[in-house]
Amino acid sequence: MKLAKLLVACTLAFGVANAQDVMQKSMSIMEQGMTQIQKGFLNNNLELIKEGSALVKQGNELFSEKKVIENYLPQNKKHLVNVAAAASERISLDLNVLELNLDEKAYLSAADAYSDMLNACSRCHSIVRSW
Ligand code: HEC
Repeated sequence: MKLAKLLVACTLAFGVANAQDVMQKSMSIMEQGMTQIQKGFLNNNLELIKEGSALVKQGNELFSEKKVIENYLPQNKKHLVNVAAAASERISLDLNVLELNLDEKAYLSAADAYSDMLNACSRCHSIVRSW
């Protein structure tokens, strides 16, 4: 009986630790990606922008499911999971717009998509952090 309880406790703890990893991994990849995109625009380096965009896409995919996002919302913000998930969706759409504009050499519009992505990061953070 005791052993069974211990096993359950371990499984739960492991589950939480794992979930923690997903968020930290996702955020750290997206942070790197956004920094690269910014550097790319500032230095007129298209390769950096493309690499950064691929990183943000990778990170965002890890943190886009409502179930995952809901885990990280404070208890009194869980009802805002749709708004939070919409921020992730917006990042994904902005990435498409950014890439299409790069292909078209419409760099100002591409930079606008980057700004909108940054706003989407803040949108979700404002919920989580009660900004
Ligand atoms: C759907 C919600 C959501 C979106 C969208 C989102 N984040 Fe986060 N982010 C979180 C949560 C939850 C945390 C952890 C709680 C906190 O730091 O307040 C977090 C924390 C972070 C952290 C601190 C990480 C840590 O280990 O403490 C960074 C850096 C970060 N996010 C970067 C970004 C960037 C860059 C973007 C946009 C490209 C972004 N986030 C978009 C939810 C989101």
